[in-house]
Amino acid sequence: MSNVKFYREEQIPLEMHKVRVVQKLTLLPVEERLKRIQEAGNNTFLLQNKDVYMDMLTDSGVNAMSDAQVASMGIADDSYAGSETFNRVKDAIFEVFGTRNVLPAHQGRAAENILAEAYVKPGMVALMNFHFTTTKAHITRLGGEVIELINKKGLIPQSDDPFKGDIDLDALRATIEEYGPEKVAFVRVEAGTNLIGGQPVSLENMLAVADICHQYGVKSVLDASLLQDNVYFMKTREAQCKFMTTKQIYHLLADKMDIIYFSGRKLGFARGGIITSHNPKYTNEMMEFIPLYEGFLTYGGMEVRSMEAMAVGLLESLDMEYISQGPEFINYLVNELDKYGVPMIKPAGGLGAHINCSEFVPHIPHEKYPAAAVATALYIASGVRGMERGSLSEQREPDGTERYAELELMRLAMPRRVFTLSQVKYCADRIKWLYDNRELIGGLQWVEEPKVLRFFFGRLEEVGYWQEELAKKFREDFGESL
Ligand code: F0G
Repeated sequence: MSNVKFYREEQIPLEMHKVRVVQKLTLLPVEERLKRIQEAGNNTFLLQNKDVYMDMLTDSGVNAMSDAQVASMGIADDSYAGSETFNRVKDAIFEVFGTRNVLPAHQGRAAENILAEAYVKPGMVALMNFHFTTTKAHITRLGGEVIELINKKGLIPQSDDPFKGDIDLDALRATIEEYGPEKVAFVRVEAGTNLIGGQPVSLENMLAVADICHQYGVKSVLDASLLQDNVYFMKTREAQCKFMTTKQIYHLLADKMDIIYFSGRKLGFARGGIITSHNPKYTNEMMEFIPLYEGFLTYGGMEVRSMEAMAVGLLESLDMEYISQGPEFINYLVNELDKYGVPMIKPAGGLGAHINCSEFVPHIPHEKYPAAAVATALYIASGVRGMERGSLSEQREPDGTERYAELELMRLAMPRRVFTLSQVKYCADRIKWLYDNRELIGGLQWVEEPKVLRFFFGRLEEVGYWQEELAKKFREDFGESL
């Protein structure tokens, strides 16, 4: 955020922005929170935002815009084809990545659909550091298989390794040789590896992956949705990046990787999605799918005002004072909880803080969804909405057996430029209380289980009567407090 040293006060992250538009929040009494989460089928996706105090479900499309972004929306050029707005988006992409070929899509998963439609055929494999839910769903839908090649260090919940998102390069070479390059649809590197706790990938590793792909004649793809956090970590944790500008890092990646795509709901503080490449061969191969699934080639399902905000927001994603806010707030929350003994994914990553629920509630087995149970317990204890990122977010195997997640995580996303530090402190305080009362937390079981992406719409119920007991204990400990 800023390089400001405190004199007598505790050293905390200092915002380099001020808030000029506010949204009123409500914090319901604990008895109401208990009722609301049960009405929502114990699924935080199904809560109503009016019942939520801090919405830490995601950082997707909920980041605060800057005054420059809001102002830019006024000049949006509302035309079906050939809008000036798209030219401004292209100019911003050129500034940030140095690439000229740009395809628009309505959001990140739409870009993934296009990528999969163009390159995944039945029997092919897509190699990656780690899957993301929607990425995997599109690849498997088309008969492809996802193979994860995360370095072993990535799955150790607590370590001081700065780049837990790195791909195992030996495994990458071996897997390409095992299947043969022609069977590899592409190799995908996910910046800021979402499902293992927003953990970054080093520049060195990304460049090495690109080189290996080049050597074998396999396409390299960068999912840049979480690249701005990742670039912050490169700058602060990787020696070779310290004296590079953020722009030099973005450009170097775009020079090396064949295809870059991202969710504009994350990168650039706006909404929408983009696919870009130096090589027109790739964008030409994907182009025909844009009018089919998204919209004309100069808007791709995006709304023009969002595109203007994206163009300005992309330029802001080069600014360390802006892009450090998320990681530094997350680091603050993770450290506060870690000091108290709460099992957190460490080191702190981007995107959000992640509680390691296998350790938080070791008495709850995978099949009773420990991370989802903790998410409901936290809402009851605080009105804070987090997201399950564990076995519930996995898909069952084709034969119906459960596929347990490597890590049972409960994520507290940190939308950029949205919360104040007192709110983050409140969140930490209620998690500490919950940790001290963790034995009260019990499991969940299905009431309605959808076949695909069940974590979005599924409904569950508590096993036993533990949620009522938890709310009662809260009342005993906090008296009249909300
Ligand atoms: N890739 C990554 C790494 C993501 O984190 C996401 C979305 C997508 C692709 C898909 O983008 O939402 O615009 O369609 N992550 C959100 C999250 C949903 O909450 O973590 P999208």
